[in-house]
Formats: sequence, structure tokens, C-alpha cells
Amino acid sequence: MSVAYNPQTKQFHLRAGKASYVMQLFRSGYLAHVYWGKAVRDVRGARAFPRLDRAFSPNPDPSDRTFSLDTLPQEYPAYGNTDFRAPAYQVQLENGSTVTDLRYKTHRIYKGKPRLNGLPATYVEHEQEAETLEIVLLDALIGLEVTLQYTAYEKWNVITRAAHFENKGGERLKLLRALSMSVDFPTADYDWIHLPGAWGRERWIERLPLLTGVQAAESRRGASSHQQNPFIALVAKNADEHQGEVYGFSLVYSGNFLAQIEVDQFGTARVSMGINPFDFTWLLQPGESFQTPEVVMVYSDQGLNGMSQTYHELYRTRLARGAFRDRERPILINNWEATYFDFNEEKIVNIARTAAELGIELVVLDDGWFGERDDDHRSLGDWVVNRRKLPNGLDGLAKQVNELGLQFGLWIEPEMVSPNSELYRKHPDWCLHVPNRPRSEGRNQLVLDYSRQDVCDYMIETISNVLASAPITYVKWDMNRHMTEIGSAALPPERQRETAHRYMLGLYRVMDEITARFPHILFESCSGGGGRFDPGILYYMPQTWTSDNTDAVSRLKIQYGTSLVYPVSAMGAHVSAVPNHQVGRVTSLTMRGHVAMSGNFGYELDITKLTETEKQIIKEQVAFYKDVRRLVQFGTFYRLLSPFEGNEAAWMFVSADRSEALVAYFRVLAEANAPLSYVRLKGLDPNQDYEIEGLGVYGGDELMYAGVAVPHRLGDFISMMWRLKTVQR
Ligand code: GLA
Repeated sequence: MSVAYNPQTKQFHLRAGKASYVMQLFRSGYLAHVYWGKAVRDVRGARAFPRLDRAFSPNPDPSDRTFSLDTLPQEYPAYGNTDFRAPAYQVQLENGSTVTDLRYKTHRIYKGKPRLNGLPATYVEHEQEAETLEIVLLDALIGLEVTLQYTAYEKWNVITRAAHFENKGGERLKLLRALSMSVDFPTADYDWIHLPGAWGRERWIERLPLLTGVQAAESRRGASSHQQNPFIALVAKNADEHQGEVYGFSLVYSGNFLAQIEVDQFGTARVSMGINPFDFTWLLQPGESFQTPEVVMVYSDQGLNGMSQTYHELYRTRLARGAFRDRERPILINNWEATYFDFNEEKIVNIARTAAELGIELVVLDDGWFGERDDDHRSLGDWVVNRRKLPNGLDGLAKQVNELGLQFGLWIEPEMVSPNSELYRKHPDWCLHVPNRPRSEGRNQLVLDYSRQDVCDYMIETISNVLASAPITYVKWDMNRHMTEIGSAALPPERQRETAHRYMLGLYRVMDEITARFPHILFESCSGGGGRFDPGILYYMPQTWTSDNTDAVSRLKIQYGTSLVYPVSAMGAHVSAVPNHQVGRVTSLTMRGHVAMSGNFGYELDITKLTETEKQIIKEQVAFYKDVRRLVQFGTFYRLLSPFEGNEAAWMFVSADRSEALVAYFRVLAEANAPLSYVRLKGLDPNQDYEIEGLGVYGGDELMYAGVAVPHRLGDFISMMWRLKTVQR
């Protein structure tokens, strides 16, 4: 890793892992993009950008018709002075105009990586892990300075980018668009991948050819959302899971985002990403500044698995924080699908008693423990324990759970308020709303206005009091609707369109403060399942409830898609009852176990009603998971067979020293007289022999290059897990 500036060529060369990223100052201070890909010693211009006189591409310098910003690959392009493609930013002046002109002013290179003010971001633990380049661009007419922030990691093919705006002039500026990054690819010979979905089927992989024009993934919902994820990748046509070039873009942000690719008339592709400019403006008074969120850009020449493994390692070790980052996560039982709102102390203690018998480690009390919360029509905001259900309070219940040898965890939803609540009656203007219009409800609730400091301060104290009131070691932090009528009673008219981003800044402050006050608590985020499964939240909470859909077959796609970016240690996965509550399907307890054991394992069904046989199976699952959990949660994860491409799915986990591995194979539906299935394993040591429990001893090379024949089984919803260990022959 290094960042170098060559004053002769005016080139910046960032070396990250085994990748190069090269920029160049062009003519009078334009910052051009030159190259991003497999590491090169230097770039002398074998692939110099086009210098042709192109029709209808105007020229900033009338004496040179071969120079137009419309054909210059750029790093942070503007609109209005010859580039017609999508700009990275747009600023409105007091005179109403929106033309700006940023040119190079200076730059700075230093070891390490700074924090991003008020925003989540990847970090370093030692200065030597990364090097940072800041390029300051200036619009001299208005005194606008934009600093482009780049960090190159030593260990990974990772470059992070963000932009910082500072109004050093004397007039009020309005940011209409302030993306985190933009990069121009010389060709559009790629497919692109994004992760669309919906509640209950989050992050399905969609791979599409790049077409001329704009293609985008975006959220306008006030959250990263189930419907999209702040991630896209450009994938070479010949690239697959295991080989070929892939470029990943992941935004460390939890609100409205835009991830866009524009293929222009000359077949070049501009990728840009950041806060969604839709319904966004930000007023910059003289002296004020604005920080964009970070984009994490990964280059892989080892296909999609290569890209994912880089994201996994980086996000697991240099995005997630806190005591649980490197610690094995407990096996939990959650009462939601067991009882919904209908529980009392006795019921929860009974669940805990059975859980203790089965070897489960943590009992999570879900929604319904506070206010008058017997259904989802009331009480959000009133974080006072319901003594009718829990006569001995949270403390009394938690102590009984502790006495059974289990830890105690709690569900909260601190960003919401029910219109039917004491909090709302007292503070009707503490929710997002606009003057004189109805407030649309979602799940009978309104969104608290976290753009307000007083609301955030109140919630920090209220939630802290709850968490300090009992021996709580786990929290499920939920968020169950998207934003409408986005406006704040505390902001002036000209700042109303800042509300959604200010909400995120408020939320991040609240999460930062609460997680810092309770470092012994494991926080799991949730938003109707995986509606806010994004890197922004992972900075505060090392795991997320992957989906409300716990059906084992549905989960194959959900977990496979999620793994494109997010590490296994971030994915909550539970065994639930059959027929499954979301899709009505009946799968075996074994398959449900194998799918859930591929993440942070837990149960979510009424275990007090299990048969003896079921109890026995669960005991074995729990014991098995305890044995393999370090491998699952912290091993290297390989996707082997995609559930999006056929009737089967397979993946595996390999330990860092390659002495151990765990393979999971799934077949959805049975076929008569079907062709045989083979799985080629990955990541093993070709020179070692491995014993596969129940299948025999084989060389790592044979298992990877020839593959394993899947044992023949009849029936739908078949699953297997094979454990591998090296043996001496
Ligand atoms: C959301 C969560 C569920 C559960 C309910 C409780 O839907 O995703 O897991 O906690 O809220 O109301």
C-alpha cells in the first residue's frame, strides 16, 4: 500500500492490496480518472483518454476542440460546463445559478485513516494499515472547497472515498447534490449486480447487462430499505463466483441513497454513489461544512467470492466495533413467533427453562413488554414495563432467566411513537410531519423526529434507563416503518429538505452514545427483518436480523444474497415453527437447522411444545453449533452453488489455517431419476488430506478440482452438512 504523487506526470497513484487506482491533474487543474484495476507499476498512457473533436461535446477552452469535459474521465464531475453526464455534485448560488467549477488547489498524503465526523466509516487500528490522500478542489469564484478523501488499505484491494464541502466564501450556498464518489470506466463491457427485494425476501441477486443510459438502485424510503441495498457491483462478462474482474461499491449509510451507472454515447460507464439527491438539499452558510458518507470500493480479480471475502474481512474487523466484534455470538431463543404479544412472566420463564435444558444460551424478550402493548396499535414511546404481564419487572424476569443459567435480552424500537401513547400526547410535534397535512401511519406508528437534538437526548436517557434497569446483555433494536411527510417542526423552511439526512446523523449519535454506555450488551439491529441491513448500522451493531422470513427455503436466497457484501457474523438466522408463519411451507427441523446454523444461530418458536424427538434433534444442533461456531462466524465464506440459478444451493466455511471446513448443501425439490450432483469445494489446502465425516478421506486437491458427489436422497427440502478436518494419511 502506498499513495504517491508524481509532480512530473501530475499523477496520483494509490496502491491498495494488489490493486492500483490512478488519477491525474489535467490541463488547468481538472482531476481526471486514469485507471483502476489490477496493480500496475505505473501508467504512462497506453490507454490515454480520448482526445478527439467530438460533435456536440462543447469546449471550455475555445482554442482546443479536442478538449471537452464531456469526454474526460473524471473523479468528481460537475454539470453545466460541458459535461452532460450525471454530475457528482451540484451547488446553487445566491443568484440562482448552479454552475460551479472545481479545480485542484492542493493535496495532502498521510498514514492512517481519519474518522468521518458524525458518520460511520471503516477504520484502522494502526496507522500502518492504510494511507490517506486528500485532494482539495476549489471554485475560486465562490470560495467553495471540496476535499476528496481517499484511503487505500494495505491488506485489501480496498479504496474508500468520501467528499467534504466547505463554504469558505461569503455567500449562502445550497447543495442540491453531494454524492460521495464518482468514477468513469472507459468501457461499459460489464454486467451490474444489485440487491433488490421486499419485506420477507430481502437482497435477491439481480445481474443485468449494462445498457446505454442510466441504471440505478436507490432508496427514497428514509432507510436503506428491504427494497434495495446500498450496494452495486460491476462484473466483467466472463466473471462468475470464482474468477474474473469485479468492482464493488458499498455505501456506509442507512438512509436514502443513490447508486447509479450511466453508460454514455461513447460507451463509457460512470458509476456514482451517495446520499440520494432526490428530496435533498443542504444549506451551507459561510464557514459551514458538509461531510458525505463513505463508499467502500473493492476490486477483485477472483470473481464475486473474492469481492465478498474482502468485504467480509473488512466489515467484520474494521467496520464493526466493540467487545462482540471478535467474540463468538450466543445461541438465542426469541419469543416473537412463539407468543407474539400474548405472553406473561410465567410463559417466558417456561421458555427459558426448556432453553436451558436444550443448551441455548440467551432468552430474548421481543415486542409487547411495555406500556399497554397488547397489539401493534399502541404504546411505542412509552418505555415503561407492563406490570400486568411482568409483575416483577424486567429485573425480576431477567434474574429468573439468569438463575436458569441463561442470559437475558430485550427488544426495543426507539425511533418510533404510537399516536396512542403518552409520549405522543405530550409531544405531538416530536414526529416527522409537515404543517397542516395528515400524518400517514405505517403499522399504526409515526417516526420520531431524530433530526431534533431534544428528541435524541430524550431517547438516549429513556433507553439508557431501561437498559440499566435489569441484567440485559443483548438488545434487538427494531425500526418498523419508512418515512412519509418528511419534515421537522424544529427546522426553518429552507432547511426542511435536510430532515432525512439530519435524522440519520441523529440516529447515529443515539446509537453511538447508547452502545458506548453499554459496552457489555450485544446489539442486533432489525427493521422488519433486514430492512436496514447496511454498513452504516453495522458500525454500531455487529449483527442484524436478516429477514422476518424464517422459512428455510426462502432463507437460502436471502442469506446467499446478503453474503455478497455482509459477513456471516452479521447475519441473524433462526429455526422457526412449521408450517412456516411467512410462507406456510413445511421443511424438516434438520434443514431449518442447517440454514440457521449458517449464520448467528437461534430459535424462534414455542419450544415448550416440542416433542421429545424434536428436543433431541435441537440438543444435537445446539451442541454441534457450539462446536463449529467460530468457524461459521469467523471463517472464510465461499458460495458454491447459487439458489438463484437452480434447485440447489451450497456454501462452505474454511478456517484461517485451512485445517477445518464446514460445507452446507441444500436441494429444494426432488426430481425422479435426476442427474447426479457434484459440488467442487473451495479454499482447502491442495496438499493436505481431509476427512469428511461419514464420507471418507480425500485430498484437498481432489475435493476442489474433481468435487464431491452429493449422496442420493429422496424427498423435497434435502439438506446436508459435512464437516472436514485435515488428517495425516
Ligand atoms: C418486527 C421484527 C420482528 C418482531 C416484530 C415485533 O417485525 O422484524 O422480528 O420483532 O417487529 O413487533
